Amino acid sequence: MAKSVSRDLHKMKAFVRFKENTEHESERRKFAAWFEPEHFIVEPAGDFFVQRFHDMDWIIATPKGTAFYTENTLKFDHKPAQKLQMTDDTEELWKIYYASIFNPARLKVKAMRSEMPKKYWHNLPEAMLIPDLIKTAAKRATKMRISSPSKAAGFADAARAPEIHIVKPRESQFSNLIDLNNAARTCQRCTLHCNATQTVVGEGDSEAKLMIVGEQPGDAEDLAGRPFVGPAGKLLDEALKNSNIKREKAYVTNAVKHFKFEPRGKRRIHQRPNRYEVQHCKYWLINEIEIVRPTLIIAMGATAAGALTGSDSNIATRRGRIVKTDFGPSLLITFHPAAILRAGAYERADEMKSQLLADLNMAAAWLAKDTPVL
Ligand code: URA
Repeated sequence: MAKSVSRDLHKMKAFVRFKENTEHESERRKFAAWFEPEHFIVEPAGDFFVQRFHDMDWIIATPKGTAFYTENTLKFDHKPAQKLQMTDDTEELWKIYYASIFNPARLKVKAMRSEMPKKYWHNLPEAMLIPDLIKTAAKRATKMRISSPSKAAGFADAARAPEIHIVKPRESQFSNLIDLNNAARTCQRCTLHCNATQTVVGEGDSEAKLMIVGEQPGDAEDLAGRPFVGPAGKLLDEALKNSNIKREKAYVTNAVKHFKFEPRGKRRIHQRPNRYEVQHCKYWLINEIEIVRPTLIIAMGATAAGALTGSDSNIATRRGRIVKTDFGPSLLITFHPAAILRAGAYERADEMKSQLLADLNMAAAWLAKDTPVL
């Protein structure tokens, strides 16, 4: 009996699948799960879930009682609960993730059945994938063997890569932007490719004198596959127009080529890329610079400035000056349009907007000296 209860507890910890409830106004995220244990284990399992999920409110409903965790307080109701019928946006993502980590070459059906008994399957969204994954495993494993790589995966290589510093212009290892972009589209140098829809490569004149570098694609860019087409892009377009810079004559790109976000209900909330992600993505930015060979780069915001100078410190004090770099093009740091949008209706937003405009005017005047193309 003790063994059976302990096994049931273990399975509950592994197989509870929360679904998010986004229909509320509260600041804390809310989740609910339906689970069918064999024994009365909801109460002894409570602390485990509190430790794991203390920063959200949740309910685990079961036919053998319900645990409620709201505002840091755990309570129980010992009556049988009604089955919850819920789904959320993450369920599809979870299934994609599960299918992609299911390794056909290491499949042991017997061990899997004992680890994940069938009686739990009807509450596990991923379980519906398993029969097909098992059926196709042998074929997929053979395919994996045939196409086995002769070299470690890009991600492992990249993880060992030393800091990349741009020192002086080299020849790019790609002969043109088409080859570079094709390679970037399958980039796995960091984990951001896992959740993003696609790599958003740069666009514009491949011989542009001006390169504009943003942070990373946002929600709209991730879906469209093009940089600066969402709200920040609209503001950038307006500012470029007001400074007589033709966007199509420039080359517009980002320091990081995949959208980093956190799913929140139906929304995908922008997350700033970390140093590691910027560092790994710099490989593409360097190659873009080496192919386009602009005379001036405008770095918008701290991430772009960080990628190009190694320092992402205060933009307000670094903006508005055209400086020489030791890797070729000159550099102008300015505000990111999204930072202006975030400043919203505050007075500061107007000031930042006119400073962005002043910086773009300065770039246009500087370029006009030897580049009549803009
Ligand atoms: N913000 C960026 O930095 N880049 C984009 O492409 C869009 C928004």
